[in-house]
Amino acid sequence: MTSNAAQYTWAGRFSEPVSDLVKRYTASVDFDQRMWRQDIRGSLAHARMLAKQGIIAAADLADIERGMAIVAEEIESGKFEWSLDLEDVHLNIEKRLTALVGDAGKRLHTGRSRNDQVATDIRLYLRDAIDDIQLLLKQFRAALVDLAEKEAATPMPGFTHLQVAQPVTFGHHMLAYFEMFGRDGERFADCKKRVARLPLGAAALAGTTYPIDRQFVAEQLGFEGVCENSLDAVSDRDFAIEFTAACALLMMHISRLSEELVMWMSPRVGFIQIADRFCTGSSIMPQKKNPDVPELARGKTGRVYGQLMSLLTLMKSQPLAYNKDNQEDKEPLFDAVDTVTDTLRIFADMAGGITVKPEAMQAALTQGFATATDLADYLVKKGLPFRDAHEAVGHAVKAAEFKGVDLPGLTLEELQQFSPLIETDVYTVLTVAGSLASRNHVGGTAPEQVRAAVQRARSRL
Ligand code: ARG
Repeated sequence: MTSNAAQYTWAGRFSEPVSDLVKRYTASVDFDQRMWRQDIRGSLAHARMLAKQGIIAAADLADIERGMAIVAEEIESGKFEWSLDLEDVHLNIEKRLTALVGDAGKRLHTGRSRNDQVATDIRLYLRDAIDDIQLLLKQFRAALVDLAEKEAATPMPGFTHLQVAQPVTFGHHMLAYFEMFGRDGERFADCKKRVARLPLGAAALAGTTYPIDRQFVAEQLGFEGVCENSLDAVSDRDFAIEFTAACALLMMHISRLSEELVMWMSPRVGFIQIADRFCTGSSIMPQKKNPDVPELARGKTGRVYGQLMSLLTLMKSQPLAYNKDNQEDKEPLFDAVDTVTDTLRIFADMAGGITVKPEAMQAALTQGFATATDLADYLVKKGLPFRDAHEAVGHAVKAAEFKGVDLPGLTLEELQQFSPLIETDVYTVLTVAGSLASRNHVGGTAPEQVRAAVQRARSRL
């Protein structure tokens, strides 16, 4: 046995060391060390169970607990020496523990495999990540509600096909995103139920010969239960895929909002300003203020979709049970976690830094015949069938366009050419305020409804 191979915990069976390239290729410590807290938490729960079941002595448990406290302190303070020779976070920590406390450290791995250990660590890590994301989502949604309340009566054009469609309020528009991000939160909460199940006890794949108590470990770690089948427990990463799918959907919503923010901030539209701290200038054009944050978020959406594809493809066709392929689950997963948490943190802050420019929205509203549907509805209420009303208003719009005015710019006589049912009261429905106020039902854009929706949104948060 060479000295190099001897460094490996599994060196006994081998007669030559791996090359440096293979060592680097197969190691994961560079990226899985971020799970050190979860690894230690999982190991302590396992050790307590081993002691409770009389599989290790109480003195061993005491040594393990003492040693792990030192390991944790070393990692926390940056003194810990991570070694590529020790492959991953699990072996690095176990080796250091053993150096600190001797035989007790060597007993820690009794009845356990890195296969159930790593699956446990990822689940603990993801559960923590979901809790962080839920908190950030809540802060972000609270900021959206604040903005919605402030602009509950601010009219802006609502678009379909990016053409002016009907007036809505800016507050109503913000609450649309509140709903989308609310569903994203529900998806994470649902995913968490399946994440919070304990693989430990599955050992390498078939379970273990020791009289273990899995339920006890699950309770120690705050899991909702144990994975029922050992083969499934060590091999499937569907929970990670599901988590990343929830991240991808969330980023899809972020990208929609980002796209609108970028568009609204364009001088051609000019509906909003975003606080300077979320924008950057140009190295050549002194006048530029670019909405970099929403643009990058739009771009990062693609990145998270990519992570989802990576994980789906990683898992595809893997035979039972654990395969080393699964080591590749971490980087996409961590990247999705980082991207989503950073994005949410920034967006929660940025939502509070949005200033609305009501004059620009008002100007846009007078250009797109936004109250045409209101005129049609007016005629219907006077007895005209909707299709006939639709046609009459179509002619009115054409005439207004020809005259270069919006619908309220047509005189009563001009309007009456399109329907004798039109009377002076028509001008109340042709105004933006009238149009908004008349959509007065749950889910509608009337300022009164938006304020009520804001109240409901607050109580849902
Ligand atoms: N670093 C490995 C991973 O991330 C840990 C499990 C390794 N198990 C094994 N039998 N090689 O999946």
